Amino acid sequence: MQKEMSTLPRVYVTRQIPPEGLKILRESGQVQFELWDSDDVPVPRKELLQKVKGVDALLCVLTEKIDKEVLDAAGPNLKVVSTMSVGFDHLSLEELKKRLLLLILHLCVFVHEGIRVGYTPDVLTDAVAELTVALLLTTSRRLIEATHEAKTGGWGTWRTLWLCGYELADSTVGILGLGRIGVAIAERLAPFKVKKFIYTDVAPRPELARAINAEYVSMDELAKQSDFLAVCCALTPETKEVCNKNLFSKMKKTSIFINTSRGGVVNQDDLYEALSSGQIAAAGLDVTVPEPLPTSHPLFTLKNCVILPHIASASYSTRGAMSALAANNLLLGLRREPMIKEIKL
Ligand code: DGY
Repeated sequence: MQKEMSTLPRVYVTRQIPPEGLKILRESGQVQFELWDSDDVPVPRKELLQKVKGVDALLCVLTEKIDKEVLDAAGPNLKVVSTMSVGFDHLSLEELKKRLLLLILHLCVFVHEGIRVGYTPDVLTDAVAELTVALLLTTSRRLIEATHEAKTGGWGTWRTLWLCGYELADSTVGILGLGRIGVAIAERLAPFKVKKFIYTDVAPRPELARAINAEYVSMDELAKQSDFLAVCCALTPETKEVCNKNLFSKMKKTSIFINTSRGGVVNQDDLYEALSSGQIAAAGLDVTVPEPLPTSHPLFTLKNCVILPHIASASYSTRGAMSALAANNLLLGLRREPMIKEIKL
């Protein structure tokens, strides 16, 4: 493990993050940090619980559950949790909120700040949208099956219906959870001559929808009308397994389901059933439960299911930007200044 000792506030970094962020921490002169010096293996839970003791700030990635146990282990010095991710379902916001309330009650004054929480939206929007489009086309045009056939002798004569898929031209694309990423996906798909964009969310989002001329519909209508359904919502208690038997049963037999948000949004048993029974045509997943998905998982047996290992934001420039943003959020939080991207508890 790499260690830099001084009397400055202590930071624990739970992963060897891209150099941009480490450079910012190192050159700030504001903190001392210790890191789990590997990108290949996540920090073991026991080590994490040991290392966070007494730290002032924590910079984590999405593989670490920052829950009551970790917050208790860190103790009252902890002022900032900064995650190098746009998703924050691995952070127990309830626990973080509780600590803010305790601080208020204990001091008997209204203090606005407990533990501050930073995250990294926006900088990954382009990379995630790009990968979503790549996954959608790979799935709908059956590219994995096609390369496999070409390599393994399945390529016989040219055939009229062999490896046919579905095209975007004249299609209806549905977005479940319209945010910046959903808009960026739609902007990239529009030149493929999509006929109509529809979306659903907890409420209409007219500002965002206007940019892509998307119509707000109910969840039922989204399922019924979409030729391509892209899941872009955050994982919350409300969205957990919202893509289930009920949704798949309303979708067209020719529809393609794409998920680049979080695996927990999908009931995977129901998805397997929908794919294997022909209820829907195909699915492309960048996220699953668990991650990694065991190679023995039934979804891997299906030709009409393309599974990627959670790489939507994996471009060098984006991961560098995420690392830098996470480091800057952390330093700003420790200085009690507004973070660039902060989750308000
Ligand atoms: C995130 O940031 O939450 C993505 O899933 C990984 O980059």
